[in-house]
Amino acid sequence: MARSNFIIAIDGFSSCGKSTVAKALAKSLNFVFVDSGAMYRAVTLYFMRNKIDCSDSAAVLQALDQIHIDFVPSTDRVQIFLNDEDVSEAIRKMEVSDNVSEVSAIKEVRKAMVAQQQALGKKRNIVMDGRDIGTTVFPDADLKIFMTANVDVRAERRYAELAAKGETVSMEEVKANLARRDHIDSTREESPLRQAEDAIILDNSNLNQSQQLDFVIDLYTQRKNQS
Ligand code: DC
Repeated sequence: MARSNFIIAIDGFSSCGKSTVAKALAKSLNFVFVDSGAMYRAVTLYFMRNKIDCSDSAAVLQALDQIHIDFVPSTDRVQIFLNDEDVSEAIRKMEVSDNVSEVSAIKEVRKAMVAQQQALGKKRNIVMDGRDIGTTVFPDADLKIFMTANVDVRAERRYAELAAKGETVSMEEVKANLARRDHIDSTREESPLRQAEDAIILDNSNLNQSQQLDFVIDLYTQRKNQS
């Protein structure tokens, strides 16, 4: 039977503003927003705290069994809870960013997260951002967007974000982390980051947030009118 809910998949490289666009789009359409990267970050935080050996499949599976992730919308943001603890801030730290690509490349981790993401999109109208949403999680999404931006622009945005939170990192560290994550994310065996054939590219190197939102809302309106 055909789905009656509308699914928007936004994929792309690290720090190119996917979540910002996805969040604004969800707000303006009154859709549910899911940041799938936050789920991989929460798993990574759990693995780091509990010193889980990523090469030990049994330990990984056992750990995944202990992990419960929830999204709770508040006034203007969505909080993420790991086993009832609000980890919204903790998962954005550089040490999590440094480990998340390794953890998210693990087959068992992906299987568990993809199943949860698919369940979230079962009946609701949803905007989900990540790396494999249009290719693996929702290959039948109604609208797929692939975001990209110049690496220097991305590094500057990420640096400003971390600095605003008081994290002391250098621009070189931020750039190196982005390059490393892009490489691991797009070359891993399990659902690597790639553009779905039917995705529309949004290069936002020179676009402000309202221009990006206009672009995606126009696409949504066109799709909606076609269906
Ligand atoms: O979007 P982000 O930078 O917060 O994502 C963190 C990491 O999670 C990213 O380096 C790759 C991984 N990820 C993934 O493998 N698949 C997704 N759907 C989303 C994120």
